[in-house]
Amino acid sequence: MEKKRGSFSSKMGFVLAAAGSAVGLGNIWRFPYLAAKYGGGIFLLIYLILTVTFGFTLMITEIAIGRKTGLSAVGAFKVLDKRFNFVGFFACLVPFIITPYYCVIGGWVIKYFVTFVTGHVADSASDTYFTTFTSQTVSPLVWFCIYVLLTAVIVILGVERGIETASRVIMPVLLVLIVGVTIYCITRPGAGEGVKYYLLPDFSKFSATTVLAAMGQLFYSLSLAMGIMITYGSYMKKDNNLEKSVRQIEIFDTCVAFLAGMMIVPSVFVFSGGNEEALSKGPSLMFITLPKVFDNMTFGGVIGAVFFLLVLFAALTSSISLMETTVSIVRDKFGWDRKKSTIVITIYVLILGAIVSLGFGPLSFIKIIGFGLLDFFDFISNSVLMPIVAILTCVCIGFFVGPKVIEDEVEINGEFKIKKFYRLMVKWVAPIFLIMVLIFAVSEAMGWISV
Ligand code: PFF
Repeated sequence: MEKKRGSFSSKMGFVLAAAGSAVGLGNIWRFPYLAAKYGGGIFLLIYLILTVTFGFTLMITEIAIGRKTGLSAVGAFKVLDKRFNFVGFFACLVPFIITPYYCVIGGWVIKYFVTFVTGHVADSASDTYFTTFTSQTVSPLVWFCIYVLLTAVIVILGVERGIETASRVIMPVLLVLIVGVTIYCITRPGAGEGVKYYLLPDFSKFSATTVLAAMGQLFYSLSLAMGIMITYGSYMKKDNNLEKSVRQIEIFDTCVAFLAGMMIVPSVFVFSGGNEEALSKGPSLMFITLPKVFDNMTFGGVIGAVFFLLVLFAALTSSISLMETTVSIVRDKFGWDRKKSTIVITIYVLILGAIVSLGFGPLSFIKIIGFGLLDFFDFISNSVLMPIVAILTCVCIGFFVGPKVIEDEVEINGEFKIKKFYRLMVKWVAPIFLIMVLIFAVSEAMGWISV
């Protein structure tokens, strides 16, 4: 990366930049559809528990590794312990898998923004609008390409800073808008059932799959187990309070996800009946549900257009950080300049993303271990690679480098309040539990077990 180390001038600067990477489609698009599908309240509860335990442990570990070594993932693991060098490479693989399909969803967001701006709100609220759109060949590809090029131009021009500054204004506005739309949704007749579904855990809906989905979402949403937070940590100043910063990032990220769920899940009950089928829509949920909400609202066309524009910004800050990461890996590896590296990555993203996009249309017959293309890439990164990286990170710190190294880094400024808890988590609880999660994920996908 070109930024000089330690380039976050203010303390809040670090938290905001890391939060900008963390808050994205994961919160607004992915979290609500998982919550809807995996039992509502029970998913929310598990997610919250995992955030304050696993999320906290992993994020503090990654940021501390970055700040201590002053390097991004590949170099950092090498410095910590040569034998764990390969973990850095594993971590780097993740952004290469996520970026292409992230951009496909980004393309959908632009499409919906344009639909609203051109006044086709009522059309977009119909049940078939989304599937008709995504099953076409050309149209989703065009929006996808526009999104990729937008991301690439920002990365090539190196104006991420501008976008980051803009997102400091945009994020709070997005939050206010989400709160407004949520209030509208939960005051509609019939929303009560949905609010109950989302907030009250129904323990009969508990299953290992719920835990797996929540764990994958945790990594994804907090940008963990992919080297990103190590890189961010390498830019963090020594006088920032690490523990406090991690808490702030987590709180911010979780609040956005929680509110997005509060907006979308009850709306499924109000506008689509809240039955099993409506709740298990998966990746299409936000795009099917929200247009119905906006279509019913006074000035819904304008509000919807603003909403999708703000979501687009949130998505862009994340895809820029994803693409930037892949670009810097390629630069370091091959010694190319920024422009050449970005162009090569863009071509790669265009090819792989196009295949994912076509997976909803002409290539929908392709199923890999039962998954469609987008879900397959999502599964490989979130349920396989990220747990592996997280396990290896914990083992490296817990047993080879020693948790003390992380604790000392945290204690450079201020006491590490939950040191004992951290030690227990990083050495034992996290790796053992993650190994179980990984075994379960793979067994289920391969059809060795059925739940
Ligand atoms: N955390 C982002 C989200 O929730 O949308 C996804 C992401 C962005 C992952 C940037 C990784 C990353 F570098």
